[in-house]
Amino acid sequence: MLKNIRECRSSLATVGVWSAIFISLFIGASAAYGADRSGQSVVNEVCAKCHRSGEKGAPIIGNPKAWAGRRDLGLSKLSRHALEGIRNMPAHGGDAGLGAIELERAITYMVNQSGGNWTEPVDKQAPSALRTGEQIVREKCGACHMTGADGAPRIGDRDAWVGRVSEGLDKVVASGIHGRGAMPARGGMASLSDAEMRAAVIYMFNASIAGQKKQ
Ligand code: HEC
Ligand code: HEC
Repeated sequence: MLKNIRECRSSLATVGVWSAIFISLFIGASAAYGADRSGQSVVNEVCAKCHRSGEKGAPIIGNPKAWAGRRDLGLSKLSRHALEGIRNMPAHGGDAGLGAIELERAITYMVNQSGGNWTEPVDKQAPSALRTGEQIVREKCGACHMTGADGAPRIGDRDAWVGRVSEGLDKVVASGIHGRGAMPARGGMASLSDAEMRAAVIYMFNASIAGQKKQ
């Protein structure tokens, strides 16, 4: 597993330099983020009104029984029902501004809060392939991983990263995708692809290793 990382490290040899100026860059870049709404935020802002209270017979978030039969319909059918509306469920959840991908993420979030284990869909139209690990970290992950908020492994903390990655890079990337403890699924970036998650993890790992090697 560490062999993998070593291979990647050569292409990221400049990372050590970057980590030094990273803090100043990050402060300027963080404001650029915001257009991307996660399933959780759509649910809190739009769907929760009915789906937390059970108003009009809405399946309640956190009640596996209410969701089990609906979950079996699958995401494409549920999202069609949410787009078009079904019985007392209004089209688009009552918010015409919500697109299909946002509805899908919101549904996935509700299903996962209610006994399911679905992966948040990725927006294939987003220019995701263009983002490097460094960009992603600056855009989003750094908010927690620069400071170590809530126990996030801090960028520059060699031991924290070596300890986690020694369990296997794939495992660490997978827990980044699905979320773990206070770490939100896909770091809270719903449009983040699996490959981008991997790039971001490798970036943070390398920055942490490079940052302390000089001592
Ligand atoms: C005004 C209340 C209301 C709001 C707001 C609302 N829902 Fe619903 N929803 C319902 C009700 C009522 C049902 C149950 C419909 C039925 O099966 O009769 C339902 C059912 C559903 C179902 C299951 C459909 C099926 O085929 O069984 C999904 C999925 C769903 N809602 C998604 C959402 C999403 C996503 C949002 C937010 C973007 C949302 N809802 C907002 C009332 C609401
Ligand atoms: C809201 C804060 C927050 C954001 C944003 C965030 N993380 Fe995390 N992250 C955490 C916390 C807290 C942990 C420690 C979780 C634990 O081990 O209980 C963590 C742990 C991780 C781990 C280690 C997982 C493991 O199995 O040990 C990886 C990898 C990771 N984050 C990657 C990312 C990436 C990549 C991003 C950006 C796309 C990101 N994180 C954004 C808070 C965050």
